[in-house]
Amino acid sequence: MSDTNLPLAGIKVIDFTGVQAGPACTQLLAWFGADVLKVERPGVGDVTRRQLRDFPDLDALYFTMLNSNKRSLELDTKTPEGKAIMEKLIREADVLVENFGPGAMDRMGFTWEHLQELNPRLVFGSVKGFNEQSSYSDIKVYENVAQCAGGAASTTGFWDGPPTISAAALGDSNTGMHLAIGILTALMGRAKTGKGQKVSVSMQDAVINLCRVKLRDQQRLEHVGYLEEYPQYPHGTFTDVVPRGGNAGGGGQPGWILKCKGWETDPNAYIYFTVQEQDWGPTCQAIGKPEWADDPAYATARARQPHIFQIFDEIEHWLADKTKFEAVNILRKFDVPCAPVLNMKEIAYDPTLRASETIVEVEQKKRGKFLTVGSPIKFSSFTPAITGAPLLGEHTDEVLARLGYSAGDIARLREKKVV
Ligand code: COA
Repeated sequence: MSDTNLPLAGIKVIDFTGVQAGPACTQLLAWFGADVLKVERPGVGDVTRRQLRDFPDLDALYFTMLNSNKRSLELDTKTPEGKAIMEKLIREADVLVENFGPGAMDRMGFTWEHLQELNPRLVFGSVKGFNEQSSYSDIKVYENVAQCAGGAASTTGFWDGPPTISAAALGDSNTGMHLAIGILTALMGRAKTGKGQKVSVSMQDAVINLCRVKLRDQQRLEHVGYLEEYPQYPHGTFTDVVPRGGNAGGGGQPGWILKCKGWETDPNAYIYFTVQEQDWGPTCQAIGKPEWADDPAYATARARQPHIFQIFDEIEHWLADKTKFEAVNILRKFDVPCAPVLNMKEIAYDPTLRASETIVEVEQKKRGKFLTVGSPIKFSSFTPAITGAPLLGEHTDEVLARLGYSAGDIARLREKKVV
């Protein structure tokens, strides 16, 4: 499919974002065909250009992996001339996305009221750490802060350890994905009403949305006093808050991370094994314990729960001479929901993830080839083509020329560090 036929072709997005939550949202829109223009501080740009660099003078992977398929305009939006340029862009945009600290947009003069005056059709997407009603709404927020405020940390980890942060970007990229859904919804709404609207997503709210099963558990705990699928049941104790459940997870089917051959030296020689109620019979066959299938001490989930760790121990004995891949290849034939614990190297070089374009190799100006994520959303009529990220200000001249600025104007703006 050519770029002009992509679903979001013709949608103009001003990407006034930084770090991860905002850029992840606008990158998704860019993949699906929107014209995404990143507006960045002259000479500085998105902070991630310089964060965690692997080569001294190159844009960091942190930046290139969140800003593919975009263009970049250097613009100081705090100067009168910079503001005037930004206003021109806003007048012709469909979407403006920002994720600055609380109040930054207002301090720059870009209040929601002013944005509506400039362009009533504008969809304005905004990420903050906390929503406007929150007593914490003045606080700046990064990923891990949101994971703590959204219930993820208190429910992740082991019961005898502290609250734990997930490596998955529940606060950042997850919030960006929520915002993308909100923006697309507002664009559909605009097609009916002709009017734009403000779409706000807070990182705390986006994390809570993913922690819904823990909110379920909080209420179950209040009703019955225990949670039968947690390792604390039946021998441990429950308080009045959802405990950390180790690797039990949040589903109705008990499971655990189990050691496979080589675990002594390989920290990822494990599989996740799920004891699925409806497939208990085949599971017993698979692990060489056919006698458990009809044994009253094992036959039902309730009967198994008191000795679930003894069951997992037995399964680990069975796994002791099998690699994680061999184990999964056996278990899949018996319909056991399971997977190897894949490390990032295995993911990076997995040929099937490359074939599906979930992981893609991209050419980046100055850097050369690097690996990044492709679209996790697969469409039947197109596959988003992932390109490199823009260099800082790479498209400044072309954007300003299109807005009617002459080469002399641009040189003057550059001298004054407006662009
Ligand atoms: N021209 C002029 N000024 C610009 C500019 C530009 N192109 N781009 C940004 N700025 C200004 C902002 O207006 C702001 O000005 P201020 O002095 O009035 O506050 C300033 O740069 C700093 O921006 P800010 O985003 O607040 O940076 P920070 O480094 O202090 O804070 C965060 C970073 C991420 C903590 C903060 O932006 C935040 O809490 N964002 C909301 C939640 C979020 O998205 N978190 C990150 C998830 S990955």
